[in-house]
Amino acid sequence: MAYGKDIKEILYGGDYNPEQWPQEVWEEDMRLMKKAHINIVTLNTFSWAALQPSEDRYCFENLDRIMDLVRKNGLKVCLATATGAHPAWMAKRHPDILRTDRNGIKRKFGGRHNSCPNSPSYRKYAAKLAGLLAKRYKGYENIVAWHVSNEFGGECYCENCEQAFRKWLQKRFGTIEELNRVFYTAFWGHTFYSWDEVVLPNLQSEHFLADGMERSMFQGITLEYRRFMSESMLECFQMEYQEIKKEMPDIPVTTNLMGFYKPLDYQKWAKQMDFVSWDSYPDPADTPAETALQHDLMRGIHKQESFVLMEQTPSVTNWQPYNRLKRPGEVRLLSYQAAAHGADAIQFFQIRQSVGACEKFHGAVIGHAGRDDTRVFRELEQLGRELGQLGDVFLEGHTPAEAAIFFDWDNWWALEDSAGPSIRMKYLDAVKDYYTAAFESNIPLDIIGMEDSFDSYKVIIAPLLYMTKTGIDERIRKFVGNGGIFVTTYFSGIVDGHDLVVQGGYPGRLRDILGIWVEENDALLEGEENSFVYKGTLYPARVLCDLMHLEHAKALSVYAKDFYQNMPVITKNQFGRGYAYYVGTRSDSGFYHKFLEDIFTEAKVAEAMATPKGVEAAIRVADDREVLFLMNHNEGSEWVVLNHDYSDLLNGKEYRKGDPVEVGAKGVFLFLKRNTK
Ligand code: GLA
Ligand code: ZN
Repeated sequence: MAYGKDIKEILYGGDYNPEQWPQEVWEEDMRLMKKAHINIVTLNTFSWAALQPSEDRYCFENLDRIMDLVRKNGLKVCLATATGAHPAWMAKRHPDILRTDRNGIKRKFGGRHNSCPNSPSYRKYAAKLAGLLAKRYKGYENIVAWHVSNEFGGECYCENCEQAFRKWLQKRFGTIEELNRVFYTAFWGHTFYSWDEVVLPNLQSEHFLADGMERSMFQGITLEYRRFMSESMLECFQMEYQEIKKEMPDIPVTTNLMGFYKPLDYQKWAKQMDFVSWDSYPDPADTPAETALQHDLMRGIHKQESFVLMEQTPSVTNWQPYNRLKRPGEVRLLSYQAAAHGADAIQFFQIRQSVGACEKFHGAVIGHAGRDDTRVFRELEQLGRELGQLGDVFLEGHTPAEAAIFFDWDNWWALEDSAGPSIRMKYLDAVKDYYTAAFESNIPLDIIGMEDSFDSYKVIIAPLLYMTKTGIDERIRKFVGNGGIFVTTYFSGIVDGHDLVVQGGYPGRLRDILGIWVEENDALLEGEENSFVYKGTLYPARVLCDLMHLEHAKALSVYAKDFYQNMPVITKNQFGRGYAYYVGTRSDSGFYHKFLEDIFTEAKVAEAMATPKGVEAAIRVADDREVLFLMNHNEGSEWVVLNHDYSDLLNGKEYRKGDPVEVGAKGVFLFLKRNTK
């Protein structure tokens, strides 16, 4: 569920900040929004200072006017609680609201997303404001969702956070002995004798800068801090959530997430959110697969349900080093790509472009010229018309994936905080290696967490599964035992949930499933490569080479050189009724394509459709309707041969299986599969 089951249209709109404009402009905005087929606005995102000008004075009159205006104009509202940036007076009067940076320096008023999540003042005033807003606006039937704060994130190292951290640890570990065990404090004589000796891990304590990155001397403490900080912010979300629910129990509550945002464990967050919404700002260099992967992640954290694309730029960002314009057709293409991967609403940051401050050059539906005959406006108007035409054809539709990739925030944190063996070993690189190869073959994929059900999948891929938390091995054992295919990679199964090594040979708890044991890991220097032959082709081995021994597994390939020449690099192990594969190094896209093609063939996992390179085919199934999205990410047009009978959802044209269709550059087709039961 995204905005709710009662919504039978694709909501289209974006962040609207009328508090930045004189009222004369508002009516013109209404006219322009209507023209662009906009039907939803996100309001009130950064109005805390306006709503609460002093300690005990609240002033909602301006917001009342805005709420009435948009209601009168038939717009739906996603109402933000305005707590993403605290007022200046609050920072002066209650300095506990200010964050402390990782270098220990306390910040002054400035910026946004800057309140300490453990500040009693912040918690008190944020919750109060959310409650007051809900009480005041609960009669507005056009509110379709609440939007708590904005892009929660960052971190804090203040005294309040330190005290809260100690309490949190005490609750989590019970005794100081257990704390010492999980933090491995026997190393370097860091034994703690009482809870108040524990300090936050930052550049004043366990962290230091090396090789351009911040590193930790005690990864156990750092890992717990990351868990703690993510949870502290989640508590802030929940506090506001509860205040809203007291007044409007039936309206869904969300906050806008940011895809692969490392500091927050979104898998835990999503469990507390009614639906996921997220802000997609692909870098111009990102591949279509990288954008799709984040949509799939955002769908995956909330039970594979549909989500809201809360923000994207209609044209250009302002905060990248080079802010390249989206090319003609690109905003349409990216909007449909989001929809193909689960979005039920398409929204922009922002409706009208600011005049001052740091986002004045950020793209908007209505630019500085204020006109409706610009390239961007015309493209948005056309897109709005089309979305209106589509009605609810794919709303709430699911994505029929038979293969899944594991993703886990704890693993991400622990892996990249671990000192050794290589700073070039990055979790997202490994995930993208596998995702991209599957994506480019139009294999629908789910991104799943450790606690999600494995039941509906034939293949599960767990790239760089460094951390094996208690119980995960048993679930994988069951999955493979029952006939599933499991793939994992180099440097997996190394530690438990506290970042303590599982002894007895890597990959620890996964050894019996994989039928191998890894003795050493060789980090290759930049530019250095080993190689291996797989099914007759030579592929590179990069970044890390695991030196392993077979127990029950078979080697599918061996290293071509160095002192570990002829040692296995890729293995396959029969375990129960299924198979477990281990890929002991990082290779190139040629290898991942070939390897996954073999895996998917073996597992009988089907592609959505065969297309030329750069043309994406993806499916959403809603009730008995199967919708095929055909999206050409290339600069030139491409021909695709249809694999079924389809009707074109945008112009009603009928096609037969085997018909060729030309998809223009950045073009999109939406087809309804005919004769579906
Ligand atoms: C984020 C924020 C918005 C705006 C945009 C600009 O996603 O949520 O308020 O700053 O970035 O790209
Ligand atoms: Zn703090």
